[in-house]
Amino acid sequence: MTPIQPWLNGPLENRGGKLYFDGVSAEELAEAFDTPLYVTSESRIRDNYRNLHKALTRNYEKIRVYYAAKANSNLSVLKTLETEGAYLDAVSPGEVFMALTTGFTPERILFTGTSVRNDELKFLADSDITVNADSLSQLDRLLKIKVPEVLSVRVNPEIGAGHHDHCITAGENTKFGLWESDAVNAYKKAKDSGVERFGIHMHVGSGVLDVDPFVLALDKLLSVAKRVHDEAGVSFEFVDMGGGIGVPYKPEDKPVDLVAFSEKVLSLFKNRVEEYDLGEPFFCVEPGRYLVCDASILLTRVNTVKVTPFKRFVGVDAGFNTLVRPTMYGSHHHVLVASKLDSPEEETYDVAGPVCESGDLLARDRRLPNVDEGDLLAVLNAGAYGYAMSSQYNARPRAAEVMVKDGKCAVIRKRETLDDLLSGQRVAE
Ligand code: LLP
Repeated sequence: MTPIQPWLNGPLENRGGKLYFDGVSAEELAEAFDTPLYVTSESRIRDNYRNLHKALTRNYEKIRVYYAAKANSNLSVLKTLETEGAYLDAVSPGEVFMALTTGFTPERILFTGTSVRNDELKFLADSDITVNADSLSQLDRLLKIKVPEVLSVRVNPEIGAGHHDHCITAGENTKFGLWESDAVNAYKKAKDSGVERFGIHMHVGSGVLDVDPFVLALDKLLSVAKRVHDEAGVSFEFVDMGGGIGVPYKPEDKPVDLVAFSEKVLSLFKNRVEEYDLGEPFFCVEPGRYLVCDASILLTRVNTVKVTPFKRFVGVDAGFNTLVRPTMYGSHHHVLVASKLDSPEEETYDVAGPVCESGDLLARDRRLPNVDEGDLLAVLNAGAYGYAMSSQYNARPRAAEVMVKDGKCAVIRKRETLDDLLSGQRVAE
């Protein structure tokens, strides 16, 4: 067994030039379950959760890790994290429903939605889910429906970060959260209405490999917490610094050093909590990507090799209907030819899907071994915002998902069929 590349680790293995994922042959998986196929390593999710939890609890005892279910809401993924003791961040009634179905109790679920409807607020109130208010409008409507026992407010910490403009969720241009003075008023209003227990929340953005934005934003969040504490007499049961921890997608990306991250973030947290007399709140994080991204690969079969005067295209059966990130954000996902791991990279290819749009490229100008029709490609780091953002665009049924562990595998979502394309539809009379 040789490592595939020094920067790639975890469940990926090179056995005699062939790709194995958590002990299972990629080629055998593709033959057994067809492609496109999402393959998820249960152990990798557990390892990621434990590494993060351990790094944080080294520096502070009262830690909660909320899994941001939007990254991957497959029931088996949710169950894996439920059994690890994770909490859960939901952004829609659907995610709350999935989490409750998996076995997360309401106390372990936090709802951080935006543009939330009244019937959705009622569902949350009836289900005893703690809500992170995203606007004064939402708070007023929630208080009219039911005064909750616990309430949190999403604060805009005025510092945002993220791998793409679409994924920066704090600062001047974002629709999310409340600015400082509105946040102070929100807590006053909630307290006057009878809410007794409180949390405070922020989320700077997604795909952040640098620790500094988290530290700067957390500092701002805690200064808002102090103002709320002083002016509204509120004490906090939890301080939630949101998600956003990035992962390396490109060979040159450096992973976040979790030990250094934990030390920097939590030393600031502990100092400010003491200085501002904020008691002993839980410190919460809300990672999606970090927990599940490198736990899945996407297998896709080459059907076409096409050479034009300008480009060499590899045509595969997964397009942006299956994995939208490269098209939507220009994201880089590393691609391996699953049976040619020991072959030299000889050609430059664009990897194109079956969607009828020119933007349907999983990879551009990528150096790969010589690719032939019938080769199997593995698209790495597909566990976060992969299946979750897939669609039936071009009337293509969605992919199947399998979970692997120590050489064994199980289907965790069956492939959609043509009949699924008709689901819920009827021809108008
Ligand atoms: N908490 C809140 C309130 C969020 O809005 C998000 C992500 C997270 C936590 C988790 O962030 P993470 O740890 O996964 O970075 N579709 C994009 C990412 C959008 C993230 C939206 N919010 C992508 O594929 O990169």
